[in-house]
Amino acid sequence: MSKSKTIKPDLTHTHANTGVVADIRIGDCREQLAKFDQVKSSSVDLVFADPPFNWARDYDRHETGDAWDDAALSRNEYLDFTYEWLDLCADALKPTGSMWVNIPDDSAAEIVVHLKKSMHMVNWCIWHYRFGQNTTGKFINSKVHALYFCKDPQSRTWNADPILEESDRRAIYGDPRTESKRDGMPAGMRVPMDVWYGKFWGRIQGNNKERRAKHDNQLPELYLQRVIACSSNPGDTVLDPFLGSGTTGVIAHAMGRHFIGTEYSQANAEMAFERIVQGPVRELDALRGGSTAIHKTRRPKNKKSSRKKAAVGS
Ligand SMILES: C[S@@+](CC[C@H](N)C(=O)[O-])C[C@H]1O[C@@H](n2cnc3c(N)ncnc32)[C@H](O)[C@@H]1O
Repeated sequence: MSKSKTIKPDLTHTHANTGVVADIRIGDCREQLAKFDQVKSSSVDLVFADPPFNWARDYDRHETGDAWDDAALSRNEYLDFTYEWLDLCADALKPTGSMWVNIPDDSAAEIVVHLKKSMHMVNWCIWHYRFGQNTTGKFINSKVHALYFCKDPQSRTWNADPILEESDRRAIYGDPRTESKRDGMPAGMRVPMDVWYGKFWGRIQGNNKERRAKHDNQLPELYLQRVIACSSNPGDTVLDPFLGSGTTGVIAHAMGRHFIGTEYSQANAEMAFERIVQGPVRELDALRGGSTAIHKTRRPKNKKSSRKKAAVGS
């Protein structure tokens, strides 16, 4: 995509099959969000935010000079900035809406305390990955927090079906009790646990198929698929104030949700837009319903085959 400044600053794309619209505004989210009608009318269904961490990260990998300076704010200024965008996003939500925030250890507690003043915490999830930065003087960090809040716990949008996975009881032990579930879930399936990991859940690095050039903060497609599937419906509106490489927009657009997003850097926004138009890299539907068990099957071989035979005969 051209980096020419002649491109109109707002990037809009309508999905050819579903007709949902992806709309990106470039600039500071605290100024740009108010320009979206869905924000003004508090009709957003889902916010997903993966903000700058104030870690002096380089968001100017395109070397344009127009990027967010991740080292410019003092700790207190960063917290004020954080509370400001959190409040803007909370105000944009419908009563049935939810907000998810992806945040590392150092600011998770402050965000939880702040959001609890106006919203309800549903889950404090952990995204666990294996290839964290190596450290020798303290434990190696291998997680980020995925904080899940809603406006109203009685009416929040919640879809379990599209995020179900095979239970460990079935995957490891073939336990027949999991085949006749009393919790209303399909046989052998469960809602995932609140620690998220597994195949295609690693950090997007090296030669990962999903990796976009000049982005070192890219989230896995599966992460956004899980959030968007459980917390919104087709035709709903998803908002991401910190687009980055565009993962939220890519998955929301592909899953038939309207998408609105803001990104400070024009170069990032243009690349994210290009990615949204292209669509996801993974076959997201094909990956549904698998197992995340960390132990191999422990069923004795003969037991497994006799169960199989019985199933065929029944
Ligand atoms: C952690 S990254 C988001 C990564 C994204 N989740 C992904 O999967 O690619 C944060 C992004 O927020 C942008 N940003 C920082 N401050 C911003 C602000 N005030 N308004 C809008 N965007 C901002 C940065 O340029 C950066 O691209």
